[in-house]
Amino acid sequence: MQAPTPENCFYMSSSTMCIPYRLWPHQTLWGAAYADNIKRASFPEILQDDEALYNFLTELEEYGLLVLHDIPRKRGQIEILSEHVGFLKRTHYGNTFSVEQKIDANNLAYTFSTLNLHVDFPYITYVPGVQVLHCISQTTGEGGDNLLVDAFNAAYQLQKLHPHKFEVLTRVPVDFKDKGYEPKVNYEFHTRNQEPVIK
Ligand SMILES: [Fe+2]
Repeated sequence: MQAPTPENCFYMSSSTMCIPYRLWPHQTLWGAAYADNIKRASFPEILQDDEALYNFLTELEEYGLLVLHDIPRKRGQIEILSEHVGFLKRTHYGNTFSVEQKIDANNLAYTFSTLNLHVDFPYITYVPGVQVLHCISQTTGEGGDNLLVDAFNAAYQLQKLHPHKFEVLTRVPVDFKDKGYEPKVNYEFHTRNQEPVIK
């Protein structure tokens, strides 16, 4: 657990009071080394055992990223997990969506293109707090790797190294938009959001 201190807070409102910039008091920032000891939890266990579920949620809150194992390799498991913990937040792609190559793809995620580091759904305000990805079938060829980064740590490092650039990114609103048609829910969308890159 990491308590807020001047070292792990983005803003200091005074010399005595520390206000974390969207950091939870018990949030742990991580880097590349986390890949070697990433927190893991058993999918069947957290569905059956409330203590295991509590530990999973606590670690999720602390690290923001966990690996769940022993998930049945069939669709519908994300719904089971989400409804066991809370509820699904629907977007214009539906309650869930399948990341697979599609003809007339309406999102880069549905193509063969490499996806660099990014955040999802910056173009809507009703953003899911947690994203659950279920790998049902791994590619047998090259590719298919996940690239994940602790954006809080990136922001923290940026603030230390380039405080002015950090300040600009927390203050200047940027336009984000998403336009297209989602056949699964028969929904034509054109969403637009405006907010700073770091908030
Ligand atoms: Fe994404």
